[in-house]
Amino acid sequence: MVTKDEGFFDHLAEGYQLVSRHTVMYPDCNTTNRLFGGRLMQWVDEAAGMFVRCTMASERVVTAQVDQLRFRRPTQLGELIEIYCKVTRFGRTSLSISVVVTNLDVSDPSAKRKKLETKMIWVCVDEAGKPCAYGSSGNATGEIRDN
Ligand SMILES: CC(C)(COP(=O)(O)OP(=O)(O)OC[C@H]1O[C@@H](n2cnc3c(N)ncnc32)[C@H](O)[C@@H]1OP(=O)(O)O)[C@@H](O)C(=O)NCCC(=O)NCCS
Repeated sequence: MVTKDEGFFDHLAEGYQLVSRHTVMYPDCNTTNRLFGGRLMQWVDEAAGMFVRCTMASERVVTAQVDQLRFRRPTQLGELIEIYCKVTRFGRTSLSISVVVTNLDVSDPSAKRKKLETKMIWVCVDEAGKPCAYGSSGNATGEIRDN
């Protein structure tokens, strides 16, 4: 049972959206079977990119800044992890988000502990790579069609 200490994470209470899950496999680990920090950063960047593309309703988005990348707990081979995102600020061409990575304990899915947290700023760009306004903030949850 995880108590609500400093590392406890209640994504519903805090307004975060689950973006992706990963199983930590051998190629993701170092020689002591711990997850590489660089692999976790790659997963965070991918998840954040998907979240931002859906939120901005744009395929052309770039990372402008990554802040306060904090690794709070190590991750072992075989663990399941989850990546959560939420918007912290809507700008004209930019979007500020908060990202949290947690463990997933399948026998107690509500007992999430933070493994990493960071803040990112993303910018919507046009074909020339120049910042441009984004219009919609849809969340890409349309119906799934058979044909
Ligand atoms: C990000 C980038 C498009 C910004 O271009 P720019 O001409 O400096 O942009 P501007 O000064 O007009 O700012 C555009 C928006 O980004 C925000 N922004 C840009 N850089 C920022 C930074 N370092 N921190 C915070 N906000 C930033 C501005 O506040 C502004 O937001 P708003 O329109 O919502 O008010 C440009 O610097 C770039 O292409 N960088 C490389 C991106 C990249 O390769 N990322 C890694 C791979 S995706």
